[in-house]
Amino acid sequence: MNKHLISAADLSKDDALLILDTAEELAAVSERSIKKLPTLRGRTVVNLFFEDSTRTRISFEAAAKRLSADVINFSAKGSSVSKGESLKDTALTLEAMGADAVVIRHGASGAPHRLANWVRGSVVNAGDGTHEHPTQALLDAFSMRRRLGSLEGRKITIVGDVLHSRVARSNVLLLATLGADVTLVAPPTLLPVSVGTWPCEVSYDLDAVLPKSDVVMMLRVQKERMNAAYFPSEREYSRRYGLDRDRFAKMPDDAIVMHPGPMNRGMEIAADVADSPRSTIVEQVANGVTTRMAVLYLLLGGESAQ
Ligand code: CP
Repeated sequence: MNKHLISAADLSKDDALLILDTAEELAAVSERSIKKLPTLRGRTVVNLFFEDSTRTRISFEAAAKRLSADVINFSAKGSSVSKGESLKDTALTLEAMGADAVVIRHGASGAPHRLANWVRGSVVNAGDGTHEHPTQALLDAFSMRRRLGSLEGRKITIVGDVLHSRVARSNVLLLATLGADVTLVAPPTLLPVSVGTWPCEVSYDLDAVLPKSDVVMMLRVQKERMNAAYFPSEREYSRRYGLDRDRFAKMPDDAIVMHPGPMNRGMEIAADVADSPRSTIVEQVANGVTTRMAVLYLLLGGESAQ
């Protein structure tokens, strides 16, 4: 394993499988009445969040605490960032407090990469701009593996606002490493120019792809990142690219539905599809804790997961 986890491309197939297998062992520990392990006692994990988060921030905190690490939570809101303090000076301040790992979410693509030059500890990317969210891809792969077994040759369809999605990019990279066949489905306006270089297929026809999919991962339409009209109306988007009950019925009986959250219910996904037994959306949140435990444990070189 590399010292940092900044991109899903940092992971070889062996690295990714080691993280997923370790997460599986840690999931067994999480089912015990006492969920805490002494593995990272004496280590300090700093959660450095410059952008809003519910799932990622809470699950990294839970993961570090279950491994007995000391946890410092930093939120840009209410900090000296509002007085103009730079990322570098913020990082050096945290460095002075002895961080062994810094988990960072930032609105700027590339911020974790910059941070890795300034701190001695491991840097974990918890989402940078529209670039990457590698631990989301890991927890998604873990969730798929638990439902479907090996991902080798599995047909994974990722649908929606790929242009603004760090989740899509990290998933495409990781799933390709794990041997899955990924198809992106989106309106042409919501695909990045570089998508032709990604290890995946592209389609504009969701109805044609659904019957061949083992997994359908819906992406949130990221209205807060849109500075132009990318589709005629929400109703039109939903009609062409939303997963409603009729489209859900076109999927194979054992195919699963995923969404990284937060969801726009009724837009990219219908409420009854999101809440169906074939949806893994709540499982993904729970699996986020064990997967992030595995990442922290392996990066910080814990002794034993038992
Ligand atoms: N999936 C995800 O990153 O959710 P949060 O923004 O709530 O962390």
